[in-house]
Amino acid sequence: MSIVAHNIRKIGVMGAGQMGTGIALVSALRAKVPVLLYDRSPEQTTKGLAFVDKLLEKDVNKGRIQSIDAKEAKDRIQVVGHEEGIKGMRDVDMVIEAVSESLPLKQAIFASISITKIAASAVPKDVSAASEEGKKIAGRVVGLHFFNPVPVMKLVELISALQTTPDVLNRARSFAVACGKEVTTSKDVPGFVSNALLMPFINEAIMCLEKGIATKEDIDTTLKLGMNHPMGPLQLVVFFGSIGLDTCLAIQQTLYEGTRDSKYRPSILLERMVDAQWYGKKNGKGFYEY
Ligand code: CAA
Repeated sequence: MSIVAHNIRKIGVMGAGQMGTGIALVSALRAKVPVLLYDRSPEQTTKGLAFVDKLLEKDVNKGRIQSIDAKEAKDRIQVVGHEEGIKGMRDVDMVIEAVSESLPLKQAIFASISITKIAASAVPKDVSAASEEGKKIAGRVVGLHFFNPVPVMKLVELISALQTTPDVLNRARSFAVACGKEVTTSKDVPGFVSNALLMPFINEAIMCLEKGIATKEDIDTTLKLGMNHPMGPLQLVVFFGSIGLDTCLAIQQTLYEGTRDSKYRPSILLERMVDAQWYGKKNGKGFYEY
C-alpha cells in the first residue's frame, strides 16, 4: 500500500506504552510514515523506544528486514519533548490516542464509551455539534482498535462514529492496511465486536473454574489444544502487560452497566479475586502464580 493511497504523510501517537510504541513501530516500519511520539512520562518514552529497538533488532537478526530498514524506521520515530507536550504534534494528518496502560480504568472506560461520544466531545463548547463546523470537527474522529501485541497481531478493528465522514473512514482503513493489518469493521456498540465476544468468553472460563467444572490448567489446555487458541482464557486475561483481573472486571462491569446484557455479568470468583487484590501477572498472583 503506497503512502499516497492512504494520504497520511505523518502521524502523531499519544502514549508510549505497549500499545503506543507498537503502533509507532508498525506505522514507521510498515506504512513508512514519520511518527511523532508523545508520552507525559519521559521514562515511559525511553522504555518504549528501547522496546522498539529490541523488536527491530530481532527482525534484522531473523532476516525479516535489512538493518537499513530498521534504521530508517527508527529515524522516522521522533519524540515530542515533555515541555512541548501535545502542542508538539504539529503538521500531522492523524493523531492516534493510545495513552499509557498505567491508567487501567481508561481501558474500562474505552471498552464501553462510544466513539460517537468521543467525536462529539471533540467539538468545542462554543460550536454547535449540528453546524457545518461542528460536523467537520467530529467527522474526523474514527475508532482504530489495535490488538496487543501490536507488531504481532494482524487485526485492526475499525469503528465509525455516527459523525465520521466516509473519507476519514477510508483513509483510516487504508492506513491500517499499510501498517500490514487486516481490517474488520464494527458498529459503534459497547465493546465493539472484539470485546463483545472476548469478555463473555473469559467470564465463562472463570465461571467454569468457579463451578469446579475443570482445573485452570485443563480449561486453558482445552482451548489451546482443542481450538488452537495461542493462549487459554485464564492466561490471556492477565496477559495485557500492566492490565490484570481488576481491569477485566472493570471492563465487564462497565459493559454490563452500559448494555444491561447478562452476558457481561462478572463472575463472583472474578470479583473475589479482585477483592483479594490478586490481579495477575502485574502483582504476581492471579489464577496462576507469576
Ligand atoms: N510485543 C511484540 N512482540 C511480541 C510480544 C510483545 N509484547 N510478545 C511476543 N512477541 C513476539 C515474539 O517476539 C515472537 O516474535 P518472533 O516470531 O519474531 O520470534 C512472537 O511474538 C511469538 O512469541 P513467542 O514465541 O514468545 O510466544 P508465542 O508463540 O506464545 O506468542 C503471543 C506470543 C503472540 C503473545 C501469543 O501467545 C498470542 O497470540 N497470544 C494471544 C494474544 C491476544 O489474544 N491478543 C489480543 C488481546 S485482546 C486486545 O488486545 C484488546 C482488546 O480490547 C480485545
